[in-house]
Order: sequence, then C-alpha cells, then structure tokens
Amino acid sequence: MDYKQLISQLVYDNLEALDLTQEQIKYYLSTPPQPDLGDFALPCFKLSKVLKNSPINIADSLARKINQKPLPAELDKINAVNGYLNFYLNRPKFIKDVVDGYKNGAPKTDLGQGRVICIDYSSINIAKHFHMGHLSTTAIGGSLYRIFNYLGYKSIGINHLGDFGTQFGKLICAYKMWSSPQKLEKNGLNELHELYTRYHKKANTNPELDDIAREWSKKIEQNDPEAVQIYQKFKEITLENIGKIYQRLGISFDSYLGESFFADKVGPVVQKLEQKNLIQISDGAKVVNLDKYDMPPCLILRSDGASLYATRDLAAAIYRKDTYDFYKCLYVVAYQQNLHFRQLFKVLELMGYEWAKDLVHVSYGMVSLEDGAMSTRGGKMVKLIDVLDKAVEKIKNIIKEKNPNAKDIDQIAEAVGVGAVIFSSLCNSKIKDIVFTWDRALNFEGESGPYLQYTHARCCSVLKKSGADYNNFLLPQSLQDVKADFDIDDNTWTLIKHIDAFFDKIVLAAQDYEPSIIANAIMDIAKGYNKFYFDYKILDDDPKIQKARLLITLAVKNCLKTGMELLLLKPIEQM
Ligand code: ARG
Repeated sequence: MDYKQLISQLVYDNLEALDLTQEQIKYYLSTPPQPDLGDFALPCFKLSKVLKNSPINIADSLARKINQKPLPAELDKINAVNGYLNFYLNRPKFIKDVVDGYKNGAPKTDLGQGRVICIDYSSINIAKHFHMGHLSTTAIGGSLYRIFNYLGYKSIGINHLGDFGTQFGKLICAYKMWSSPQKLEKNGLNELHELYTRYHKKANTNPELDDIAREWSKKIEQNDPEAVQIYQKFKEITLENIGKIYQRLGISFDSYLGESFFADKVGPVVQKLEQKNLIQISDGAKVVNLDKYDMPPCLILRSDGASLYATRDLAAAIYRKDTYDFYKCLYVVAYQQNLHFRQLFKVLELMGYEWAKDLVHVSYGMVSLEDGAMSTRGGKMVKLIDVLDKAVEKIKNIIKEKNPNAKDIDQIAEAVGVGAVIFSSLCNSKIKDIVFTWDRALNFEGESGPYLQYTHARCCSVLKKSGADYNNFLLPQSLQDVKADFDIDDNTWTLIKHIDAFFDKIVLAAQDYEPSIIANAIMDIAKGYNKFYFDYKILDDDPKIQKARLLITLAVKNCLKTGMELLLLKPIEQM
C-alpha cells in the first residue's frame, strides 16, 4: 500500500489548483517529528504561492473539505494545525499491511532487472598478511554484493589481486638465499612476511641484492619456468591463507584476475591513448596531462616502458566492460586512493568511453585499534585473523558465563564473534575513520552485532515457545478483530513504522553504497522490539492479542534475518 500516493490523491481531489500536480503534493508530504502530530503531514506553506492564500487558511479549508466525506479505510483522522495538514493512519489496518508484507520474509523485488554490478573489493596483495586495514573493503564490498543481488541485480565480485611488481623479484631473491620449499610449506605467509622484512634490512647495506631481485622480476615477466613456479607458490600460499578468512566471513569472488593479468594487456590502451592524442612525454615517461581538471598527470608508462598501477587499472576497466557489460562498476577502496580513481575515471572519459560515468569509487575511512595499532610499517600491523579469533574467544566466555549449559557454543561463538567484528565496520557511515574497541564491538546491550544476534534469537525463541509453526505461520484474516483489545501505544507504533521502512532502507543503502543504512534500520527495529518485549507479555492469555504480538515478532525476526544477512552476519536461532 502506497500511503503517500493515497494521501496526495486525496488532497489533489480536494484542491482547486489546476497547476499543481498530484506528484508535487506527494513530494511535499513529510513525516512529523512526533506521533501525536500524525503519520504524514502536508506543510501548506509550500502551496501558499500557487493558491495565493495563507498556510493556515489552506490547511483549515482542506481539512474541512476532506472531512465532509467519509475517509478512506486507511485513514483514521485528518486535522489542521498551524498551517500543517496532519494525517493519522488507521493503526490496526496499517499494522496488518505491514506484518502481511513481512510474514514470509522481507519483500522480494526485481528492481535490478538482472543488470550487472561489478564490485572490486578486498583486492589483496600477494605475500602480505590480511590485516585490520582490509576489513572495511572486504565487509563493505561483501555487503554491497549481497545487497545488489537481493535487489535483483547481478553482482560480480572481483578480487583485483596485487600480484605484480618488483617486490616479487625481491621476494624470490630472498627465498633463494634464506628459505626452502619445506620452510615455506611449514610457515606459510609468515615465512613470506619475514623474508620480505629481512630482504629490506639486508638490501640497505648490500645494494647488489637489488640487481639480483631485478633479474628475478624480469624472469617472472619472461615466463621463466623456475621464477614462475616459485611465484605461483607464493600466490597459492596467500590465497589459501586468505581463503580461510573469506570462508569465515562468508564471502566469495567471481574473479581473481589481478594486476599481473592486465600487465601484458596495456599495449592497446597506450595505442588508443596515443591515437586520441592524449599522451605527453615527461622526462621520458608517457603521461596524460590533467591540468585542466585540477589533477596531477596520470602516469601511463615509465621511461623504461613499464606499466603502472593506473595503466593496469585502465586495462582492467575496459576488460570488465567487455566481459560483463556492467551497469555499474564499483571500486571499494580506501580514501587514500581518491586521486587515483578520479584520474582513472577522467582518463577513460577522455578516451571516449561513455560508460566512464558508470564507474564509482566507493571510498571509505580507516579502521584503527584503540591502542593506535594499525600501520603496516614498524611491525604494528594487526592481523584480522587474530582479531577474529580473539572476538570468538571472548564471546565464548561471555556465553559460558551467562548460560553454562548452552549447546553448540563453538558454532554460536564463531557466528557472534565474527559478526561482531564485521558489524563494527558496517555500522558507521563508511567515510568516517573508526576506532575499533572491544567493549563496543562485543557489548550485548549496545549497538553491536551481538545485540542484533541476541534479539534475533529472542524472537525465534518467543515464536518457538508459542508452539506455532512460525515458518508456516498462518495469519488471521485480519488484525481488525483484535483492535478492541490490542492497545497500540506510540512505541509499538514506532516499531511498526521502522519495520515498514525497512525495505526502502535497503534500496537507499544500494543507492548510496552505504550498508550502514541497513545497520541503523535493523538496530532501530531491534531496539523497538526489545522495548515491546519488556512492556508486554507476548504470549498473552488472550489468543487474539497473543497472535497479534506473535505476528509483530515474526515481522521483526524476518527484518533482522534479512538485514543481518545483507551485512554478512549469520542470524542464529538460539544463543
Ligand atoms: N591492491 C590494492 C591496494 O592494496 C587495491 C586495489 C583496488 N582495486 C583496483 N582496481 N585498483 O591498495
């Protein structure tokens, strides 16, 4: 039921202003700040100019006119207050509409019509640990992936691997000197990390190492079997290690084509740039001048002919358009790369690709830990796996304390602990820098993942206790028949409105590339429900009241479940 449509039609039918459209009126409708001022309001000063009358007169006369006839069943009351026309919904009818809409889960939609959304996210660097700094791109990207799929788009997850560059020559050089296949097998990523650190220490005083490293880099590019074999092993170890994290986070990718794949595909890109007269030579390097757009030049080829990060991204963007014919291509990358993406998109536009407008940099802020740890340099890097493990451990202890006989503690702690970490990165507007604190992330009573998990489990347990088969819950024909006994206070009413708004919030989250909109929406629902739960006896002795309250519980459960899944949290049924 589109209430704004209904209300604007009603106003329009009672207006004598022919140059106002119903759409305009619909657009003017607002939500009053308090429930006692109604559920929708028309601020009549917006009509003053057209109607050449004061807002108070307009509101009064509209109220008088509309009230002359019986109101539609959806509305309870209309009144005029200080130039505002306030509309009060018929609460039982509205509640019935809302719980009806959510009884089988959140509504389905085909808004996306199968259009493809490429999402470049996580995009890790080979031979590097997965640290806290990767959390946001992975969580935001993974969440957007699910949000777009939910809305009927087709998400394509791309892990644009950082697998190209001189560092791999250095790493092979270090490996040949100080390591072995056995050590590598045994220590995995830690071995690579140590080799890298050791190399840099040594190379400071032994510059000849860099010559050897350069040789290995060249050998990788020339497909030398030994170099390629060692390098592939590095890649394998990294992906295996990080794959375990992706599994825990519930994330997967459709493509792992990284920078090395595009390194030998930059030729045509450079040719095209030259054809379009976009290339200038600067100190022997090829660049695209972007003075006109207030940006430094975009470096395309170094003087030795080597491609750059941006060049490979140009080739990758063109490849993605050719391969997926995307509707949008998102890059979920930290704000440090704002300039890179502005340059990238501008160069593609100058090359004449009209789809350059469909590229979006989904930029986000930094996560740091409360003790300030974060930087990868100086050994202060914090591995994500350690944070996940610690979260799970802490949650396990909390659950054991609350409920020593709880079943499936390991499974529950894994879902709640991992969810807590993910949620801490998805609950704030993405562009903000955030500080991860254990207290906040794990607080069962605060705005946290565990709070959502707990509330969802609470709904499930209420439904289970009722004895109703809530997966196949049969709705009464109408909630109207419980109207007399079912007291709908303002808190309950606000809860229902939050549930009603949930679907629109998902659409908004996709529009703004902002999962935190969903996080806030389900947080409001969870808080509202907990208040409802403490204020009322859900399993009331009166079967009609009980049913109404169970139906609200079911709608809440369904919103929480869908919302949590869209935020990569696993909704568990008992805790
Ligand atoms: N690997 C890069 C980094 O760690 C991020 C890559 C983002 N994606 C892209 N297409 N540039 O900084």
